[in-house]
Amino acid sequence: MTAPEHSSAEGYDPLYAAFDSPLMRQLRQEAYGEDIGQHSWVTAEELRSDVGRLSLTTSSRLLDAGCGPCGPLVFAVKSTGCMGTGLDVSASAVASGRARASAAGVQDCVALFEADLNLPVPFDGSSFDAVISLDVIVHLRNRKSFFHEMARLLAPTGRFLLTDAGVITGPISNEEVERRSINGYTQFVPSGLNENLLEAAGFRLIDQEDRTHSVLLNASGRLRAMLAHRAEIEGSDGKEAFARQQRYVETVVALAERRALSRIMYCAELAKV
Ligand SMILES: C[S@@+](CC[C@H](N)C(=O)[O-])C[C@H]1O[C@@H](n2cnc3c(N)ncnc32)[C@H](O)[C@@H]1O
Repeated sequence: MTAPEHSSAEGYDPLYAAFDSPLMRQLRQEAYGEDIGQHSWVTAEELRSDVGRLSLTTSSRLLDAGCGPCGPLVFAVKSTGCMGTGLDVSASAVASGRARASAAGVQDCVALFEADLNLPVPFDGSSFDAVISLDVIVHLRNRKSFFHEMARLLAPTGRFLLTDAGVITGPISNEEVERRSINGYTQFVPSGLNENLLEAAGFRLIDQEDRTHSVLLNASGRLRAMLAHRAEIEGSDGKEAFARQQRYVETVVALAERRALSRIMYCAELAKV
């Protein structure tokens, strides 16, 4: 499976290349408290409860659509004994994910592929019992097609749990949109759209939760850790890159604080027979 030209991984690739460096580990430790190798707004506590929502067993087949460096996927495989498959457009994410799976001793239970989720996924229908997709949908161009594709990949009554960190729930300026969109193609949507599109793709929404507090927690932690290690980060990435990241994280915090941009978790079940 290769990553076609349709999407670019440029937003995340440079970051993932150094994802497991001592400095990056230190930053995540300070930012999140419990570093599970995530590169999203998910907290370890949240992930534990979400894995529970999927009722995974040792015979379950779990897909992580947009797995990044595979922190959440490896966590789910280790804690349930299920088989995991991860897809991401970034080659560095897949490389980092393989190293993480090996380090955790679950390399035989985790298969990772480079793939563009803006395109059909080359797996047969009903290949998975559950799908997670954490903070990825903001980067996809056509969520209607994506939801239909996830419905095709799931076995009957399979569960799809996703988080969308880009739900508009208040006024946002053009400057904020620009600063919040530095990781490649980014799409913000009005409240209610995901619910309608999930239903149109054949899903029944069984749970929904506002997770904006996790954004606030993780982004504030990230900002604190960045500022505490400013000289080291500027030394490795340059002053301009640091300033850009700082503006990005500050904007994330500001939008979450005034609830202008919300992060919502949707857990849906396939209503197919
Ligand atoms: C915020 S990160 C989340 C990573 C992971 N889900 C986690 O929780 O750690 C978003 C991920 O989406 C991936 N991504 C963006 N556009 C994509 C696309 N078109 N196809 C596949 N993956 C994509 C990025 O490479 C990145 O790893």
